[in-house]
Amino acid sequence: MGKIISKFVCHECGYETPKWLGKCPGCSAWNSLLEESISNKPLRRTAERVAAIPLNQLSAEDSPRFSSGLSEFDRVLGGGIVPGSLILLGGDPGIGKSTLLLQVAGLIAAAGKRILYLSGEESLQQIRLRASRLGINNDTIFLLNEQDIDLLHEYINDLDPDLIIIDSIQTVYSSKLSSIPGSVSQLRESTAAVMQMAKKMNKAVFLVGHVTKDGSLAGPKVLEHIVDVVVYFEGEKNFSFRLLRAAKNRFGATDEIALLEMSGQGLVEVPDPSYVFLSPGRDISSGTAIVASMEGSRPLLIEIQALVSSLGAGYPRRMVSGIDQNRLSLIIAVLEKRRGYTLSACDVYLKVSGGVFLKDPSVDLGIAAAVLSSYLEKPLAMDTVFIGEISLSGQIRPVSFLDLRLREIDRMGYKRVIVPTSPGRLAKSSHNMEILEVKSLDHFIDIVLEG
Ligand code: TYD
Ligand code: MG
Repeated sequence: MGKIISKFVCHECGYETPKWLGKCPGCSAWNSLLEESISNKPLRRTAERVAAIPLNQLSAEDSPRFSSGLSEFDRVLGGGIVPGSLILLGGDPGIGKSTLLLQVAGLIAAAGKRILYLSGEESLQQIRLRASRLGINNDTIFLLNEQDIDLLHEYINDLDPDLIIIDSIQTVYSSKLSSIPGSVSQLRESTAAVMQMAKKMNKAVFLVGHVTKDGSLAGPKVLEHIVDVVVYFEGEKNFSFRLLRAAKNRFGATDEIALLEMSGQGLVEVPDPSYVFLSPGRDISSGTAIVASMEGSRPLLIEIQALVSSLGAGYPRRMVSGIDQNRLSLIIAVLEKRRGYTLSACDVYLKVSGGVFLKDPSVDLGIAAAVLSSYLEKPLAMDTVFIGEISLSGQIRPVSFLDLRLREIDRMGYKRVIVPTSPGRLAKSSHNMEILEVKSLDHFIDIVLEG
């Protein structure tokens, strides 16, 4: 039996130290170090040796995937579920993780597969109630109220499931450790144990992980590197739409998104997201601009709203939701410097519709347009979409996937699009819209806002 020692682990980033500290040296979080007891028993060596295999003797075929039953979810996973993979589904409590996985269980069961649903969070009766509400009633979904992860392989041997759902990783524990479920060392140990089992028995496993207030899964940065796929569930509580986003994927592209809507009958796929993020029949008002942001492999048309008001007391306020605040500051600085607009004497509020977070730099021009439109009290034409990244020198830089974006804008019925100059690359005639090329912010303001 190994000696039990104690150490302090940061529940934000996993940093370990032998003594308690008020501030974590790893991530600078305050009060995040918690004491954990660990056994320093050496890891048992596997009894048999395994032979190393030459690369070219391994089959190069793609692992046969199976569908989750929801085509949008499959796309985020890179084309379906890979047997033997470990998929972490993260999100705020109450966003719909259990609902989604129960629905997936129902759809997969209907396709003749067996599912083991292990819940440490809800009673079997509660899951049963949710299942009836979702119209799921299969004899190949096995529910289990078990928190000891070390027993999992026995259940797998008994039931031989194709898919295992663990809801949630924060409620299970490995009896090899004495620390409480949800602590960093338990999360790590349990996840590593599940990972080993998934690989050895070639079973796909979904792990549910709750996200803490600051947006990282509880303890969880420590899990991201262990698992094969990390999918986050995003959305606003008072908005029925939910985004699934792949943050890591060993079997496919990342940043691929899917849109789902929470309804009375569970989550419903929304195959055409662009329609959702635009307010239909909106009136002309200043401060609103449409952008075409690439989310994964698809362009998404989305509305950006800005409000520029005269300065309240104290410092100018910059309130932003849906983009990085530094991006707004940078665009405001460029507008001030290039055109002399006195935005530093104003409060600026900016919002991306629908609780989506945009990272694509091509939305810069739309942000600048929305801010200026509100500042100058000049509404932008409703049928126009803005595309372009703004450089510090005020140039409008070219963006990737311009053709794909233009096709989407055309499909959605817009009549005009402002794009960065790209010599000879645009096949303007293939679209039914007016395509206006701008080379700099000055040029853009002259022809669109002050023209
Ligand atoms: P849940 O899946 O329990 O969230 P999580 O597992 O991420 O904590 O989702 C619960 C929420 O979803 C709850 O607020 C009720 C709502 N909901 C619906 O709106 N429709 C439904 O059909 C179901 C099952 C839940
Ligand atoms: Mg849940």
